[in-house]
Amino acid sequence: MPRAGSVAYDLERNDWNTSSLSVVVVGASGDLAKKKIFPALFALFYEGLLPPEFHVFGYARSKMSDAEFREVIASTLTCRIHARERCQEKQEEFLRRCYYSAGQYDQPASFQELNRRMGEVEGACGKPRANRMFFLSIPPNVFIAAAGGAADYCSTRTGWTRVIVEKPFGRDSASSAALGRGLAAHLREDQIYRIDHYLGKELIENLTVLRFSNLVFEPLWSRQYIRNVQIVFSENFGTEGRGGYFDQYGIMRDVIQNHLLQILALFAMEPPISLAAEDIRNEKVKVLRSMRAVALDDTVLGQYRSRMHGGRTLPGYLDDKTVPPGSLTPTFAACAMFINNARWDGVPFLLKAGKALHTRRAEIRVQFRHVPGNLYKHKFGPDLDSATNELVIRIQPKEAIYLKINNKVPGLGLQLDTTRLDLQYQSAFNQKELPDAYERLLLDVVNGDKRLFIRYDELEAAWDLFTPLLHEIESRKGGRLVGQVAT
Ligand code: NDP
Ligand code: BG6
Repeated sequence: MPRAGSVAYDLERNDWNTSSLSVVVVGASGDLAKKKIFPALFALFYEGLLPPEFHVFGYARSKMSDAEFREVIASTLTCRIHARERCQEKQEEFLRRCYYSAGQYDQPASFQELNRRMGEVEGACGKPRANRMFFLSIPPNVFIAAAGGAADYCSTRTGWTRVIVEKPFGRDSASSAALGRGLAAHLREDQIYRIDHYLGKELIENLTVLRFSNLVFEPLWSRQYIRNVQIVFSENFGTEGRGGYFDQYGIMRDVIQNHLLQILALFAMEPPISLAAEDIRNEKVKVLRSMRAVALDDTVLGQYRSRMHGGRTLPGYLDDKTVPPGSLTPTFAACAMFINNARWDGVPFLLKAGKALHTRRAEIRVQFRHVPGNLYKHKFGPDLDSATNELVIRIQPKEAIYLKINNKVPGLGLQLDTTRLDLQYQSAFNQKELPDAYERLLLDVVNGDKRLFIRYDELEAAWDLFTPLLHEIESRKGGRLVGQVAT
């Protein structure tokens, strides 16, 4: 889908003549803000994708002056995009547009002061309209208070106000619904952008293009030809200090219920009637509602323990000082899910995620059925599975799409081998680095494009699939369910 040339983008660009844009990062002293949000905003600014009258406001409880805040941001910025021209100058220009307000997340007076400062800076721009975008980069216990503060005391009167919310969106159906009600008390659904950064990854954006703009894939996209689909996430590092957060959630809630399930929904949905956000999200929600809740018998759980690697001892989950002693929280999970509709009846979708495994990898593996009456089956021996086609969409690292096919080994005689039709992004597109997912998603919020954000009913359907299992696991903790696995 074109980005810079899209209709939404052009409409917003016209708006640039009359509007300023203020981006408020709530929780600006935190890890996500420094790791992802500031670098992404700078990359967009560098590329000229933000309005000329654009400003960043940091907000958190930590006390900082504007100058100190700019130093914090400066330490997070790099010239990651291939064009490095005038990068230093651009960084300085970006930093001059950054301001900081210290305040509590639940105190109207703090938000009123933020609103006053924003009004002052926006007023000096001389634009008749001021658009405001809030990124709630804070722990869930202060989500609702901060959303209320932002909406009730800092909404613009002249443009749009949009609020980005980060996961976790609750811990189960009930807590997610409570969070939804809390947000709905202050904001309209069209103002809420629930981010799932996996939807902003290049290969996930490409999934619909691959399916719906190539004749060769869509006709095969069903139970008739596909034996199973594996959606795999692995990281070669553990919780590393994020154990306080992770231990309350576990890998099912941290990765499978959101990132992997969202990929599944996009992969399996019916063709939408258009590329409009609501048409795509309507199809995704239909897939989620056609699925049966994950069963315990279809699930495997584990937790990483200490191991030797390259002569070093790598810590186990329980060695992380931020993890409560004796925790049984799973750091690895695999579950088979099924979609009860005409297209996918009986096809297992295997969702698998783990921390502290051997490699860092995220991919979709589509395994096709056997060729009926294969004339060459004697060439493959008894293991016919090795001869089936497989389509691999590697989300990261080293983005790629390849199809494993059977091929004659060149030369005399008839020897068969499995080889790849291979699209490696780095060599095919000569691109040193792809934009980060947060860049794409922040730009979408600026442009009011909700295609890659989670709608309330999608979230509800996603929790309905996992809540019974999560509750069952938790009620049986300490029993036979959670084992420790060597990685
Ligand atoms: P942090 O723990 O770094 O918290 C962000 C800021 O919130 C802190 O700098 C702190 O600012 C304030 N804060 C921290 N704890 C509390 C508390 N108990 N009560 C009130 N304020 C608090 O979080 P992250 O930046 O890592 O994450 C932000 C959000 O994004 C969270 O919801 C997280 O789950 C989500 N997320 C994070 C990812 C990551 O990679 N870090 C990945 C995906 C999602 P101050 O004290 O100055 O107010
Ligand atoms: C986050 C999870 O949503 O995604 C983390 O909370 C995980 O636990 C991260 O490490 C992975 O994101 P990425 O983009 O680095 O693959």
